[in-house]
Amino acid sequence: MQSGKLNSTLKVIEHVSDLEPGRYRAFVPTMGALHDGHLSLIKIAQQFDAQTLVSIFVNPLQFDNPDDLAKYPKQLEQDFAKLDSLGVGAVFVPNSNEIYPSKPELIDSGAIGLMYEGKSRAGHFDGVLTVVNRLFNLVNPKFAIFGEKDFQQLFLIKQLVKQRQIPTEVISAPLVRDIDGLALSSRNVRLSPDGRKAALVISKALRAGSETGDLEKMQEIIASEPQFKLDYLSIIDENNFSIANDRTVNARILIAGWVEGVRLIDNMPVQNWTYLEK
Ligand code: PAF
Repeated sequence: MQSGKLNSTLKVIEHVSDLEPGRYRAFVPTMGALHDGHLSLIKIAQQFDAQTLVSIFVNPLQFDNPDDLAKYPKQLEQDFAKLDSLGVGAVFVPNSNEIYPSKPELIDSGAIGLMYEGKSRAGHFDGVLTVVNRLFNLVNPKFAIFGEKDFQQLFLIKQLVKQRQIPTEVISAPLVRDIDGLALSSRNVRLSPDGRKAALVISKALRAGSETGDLEKMQEIIASEPQFKLDYLSIIDENNFSIANDRTVNARILIAGWVEGVRLIDNMPVQNWTYLEK
């Protein structure tokens, strides 16, 4: 496999045996189909180490739906070109046998792993933590960058690192939105122009709720878009994922649902959380 460019400086690593643990201080794990959100993570990583390592591995363990796994966009050559243009040092593109030479023992993501995304996607976070733990073992980075777009994932990875005393600092990176407000996601390419318009109801509702956390106002906005099938809309306490209450200091709105069968998730912090007892 080559990066497809004559003057490319991007090193493509396919085999675990070619990785030198600790060689790359900054690491950005991805599943490919790179968009500007991923590129923003890489730019942050490069502030820690210009020779950042990016991995591209579509982890089968985190998909509960074979159709979703099969439809996950794959565009390796385009990804390589993007990494090259950013001057990324190396990309790790293992196959499944490299990552899982034998049946892996799944890491239990615990109670929080069963909520929200974990409730709708059985075993999702166990799969995420298992692959992240494996990648951290192989790469042994000093810093690893994850986006706030997957807020629950970020929380659970931070928890994993703490519980297992993994010597990697998890750095969180802000969520990136398109100019129309839609949170960037590799899945967005599966939306028709009409579907994309409908999906904007998500960021519209979040913006409306982000000042004080007005759930009713958000529910009203969501209900106004029949193409959006809501899965959950909640305001949580960032510290423990419980429903935000009068003791909550940092509240965040979590939302997920489907447009045209495409699962979309988003979140936004509440600026001045106002708890109203019902
Ligand atoms: O966020 C993702 O792209 C994936 O869940 C991750 C962290 C690369 C693990 O497969």
